[in-house]
Amino acid sequence: LKIWVPMDSAAKALGADEVADAVTREAAARGIAVDLIRNGTRGMVWLEPLVEIEQDGRRIGYGPVSADDVPALLDGKLDSLGPVEEIPYFARQTRLTFARCGIIDPLDLDDYQAHGGLAGLRRAIGMTPPEIVAEVTASGLRGRGGAGFPTGIKWKTVMEAEAPQKYIVCNADEGDSGTFADRMIMEGDPFTLIEGMAIAGLGVGATRGYVYLRSEYPDAIRVLKAAILIARERGVLGPDVLGSGRAYDMEVRTGAGAYVCGEETSLLNSLEGKRGVVRAKPPLPALEGFLGRPTVVNNVISLATVPVIFEKGAQHYADFGVGRSRGTATLQIAGNVKRGGLFETAFGMTLGEVVNDVGGGTASGRPVKAVQVGGPLGAYMPVSKFDTPVGYEEFDQNGGLIGHAGLVVFDDSTDMLQMARFAMEFCAVESCGKCTPCRIGAVRGVETIDRIAQGDSGATELLTDLCETMKDGSLCALGGFTPFPVMSALTHFPDDFATYREAAE
Ligand code: NAI
Ligand code: SF4
Repeated sequence: LKIWVPMDSAAKALGADEVADAVTREAAARGIAVDLIRNGTRGMVWLEPLVEIEQDGRRIGYGPVSADDVPALLDGKLDSLGPVEEIPYFARQTRLTFARCGIIDPLDLDDYQAHGGLAGLRRAIGMTPPEIVAEVTASGLRGRGGAGFPTGIKWKTVMEAEAPQKYIVCNADEGDSGTFADRMIMEGDPFTLIEGMAIAGLGVGATRGYVYLRSEYPDAIRVLKAAILIARERGVLGPDVLGSGRAYDMEVRTGAGAYVCGEETSLLNSLEGKRGVVRAKPPLPALEGFLGRPTVVNNVISLATVPVIFEKGAQHYADFGVGRSRGTATLQIAGNVKRGGLFETAFGMTLGEVVNDVGGGTASGRPVKAVQVGGPLGAYMPVSKFDTPVGYEEFDQNGGLIGHAGLVVFDDSTDMLQMARFAMEFCAVESCGKCTPCRIGAVRGVETIDRIAQGDSGATELLTDLCETMKDGSLCALGGFTPFPVMSALTHFPDDFATYREAAE
């Protein structure tokens, strides 16, 4: 009997380890031989722990399962969700980056290969560096960390730079509120990231790579480190990548938990053992990055998407999407929502469809008030903007940003003045302190919002002015983007700011 119980940390937080123990115990007591596989998550977090049992060649899902449910599960008395791949939330996705996540045993390289793994790297080995970079450019892939910069152009800059040593750095310092895509792929399909980084190495001529992984992700660190060891033992990494005669190797470095270390130059400082302070750009990391050498700094999802582009071809990937946003968005639906989880879909679905149809509306059952898209620096999108298609330019035209594609849903009991205050407070706490608009502006921002809360109506103009200064004068996105949540709260929910005034009057 084949049973899958996820070892993803979200599933574990919801009791997956206890369920796995109960399966082993109960199976032994019944004398049943069980092949227990600890897979990654399918991404349907509201169903975790989601247990799957093989029946007639199909994987039938049960969830959420508790350890107490296991005897009934093994007796066939627990209600099933049917074949997992037919659950509507799963069935309507386009899984390219996450094609294997939740399906395979994350640390079984043979299982990985049986599901298309390493086909992309094998194809890349037969290509010249310019051909590899051209393939990424043709796919239309853009940086999934948040900025949406064309990955192919970044790689081309590094490829063309002359240097004795180049590097691939993976930004796995996933710090945005409500995001978990990086963690999920590293825990559920780590070889995909390794393969993507190896292709990047071959493409730009870098022989070393680093994954800067946040310390808050101990499971991801463990799984990725184990996967790197396996990849090295099996010749995927090392002096002769899959017999190509070309070298590429990599390691994991752990960050200490500063949000700003997700900013690429601050990350590079931290990786070099220095304080995580933002560096001025230029020079771009593509030309002077890690240890002053040309460096590709890409987010986990950007790099983990590279293998499927090489496996299926750039055109296959580019055929999905809308406008200049090609391929799939790995949406992470969180907050006050009924069906939270990862939802990979072609760019173009509207925000309203994602929140209401896919997410099922709020968990509280109250009306949706706002959705913060793009982490703590993203705008609060009101329901009136729900027809905005998920796309970089489409969001930009509507005053928002997709960022790392995290969506946090709020119901009508949310006080948007407090949310604006939180944004400024967050910036004040996480600021690296290098530039004045952010270091001092964020502190003044909290004070100014407190003045509005106390009924000082003139403070609203001051807040608007302060946001302009932070936007125009900050060195990086932390100070520069904090005005997005603040101003969107003020613009779309003026009543929440006026209520305070009226109360004070
Ligand atoms: P950016 O627009 O300055 O740069 C984007 C990328 O393109 C960088 O890697 C930059 O070095 C590169 N680049 C620009 N011109 C280039 C050229 N000519 N050749 C080669 N490379 C070039 O944006 P930044 O500051 O890197 O990122 C800001 C974004 O980060 C925001 O949109 C925000 O949403 C996101 N973010 C993501 C977080 C997460 O947890 N994933 C956390 C905080 C912010
Ligand atoms: Fe540092 Fe803030 Fe300036 Fe960014 S905007 S460099 S985090 S002080």
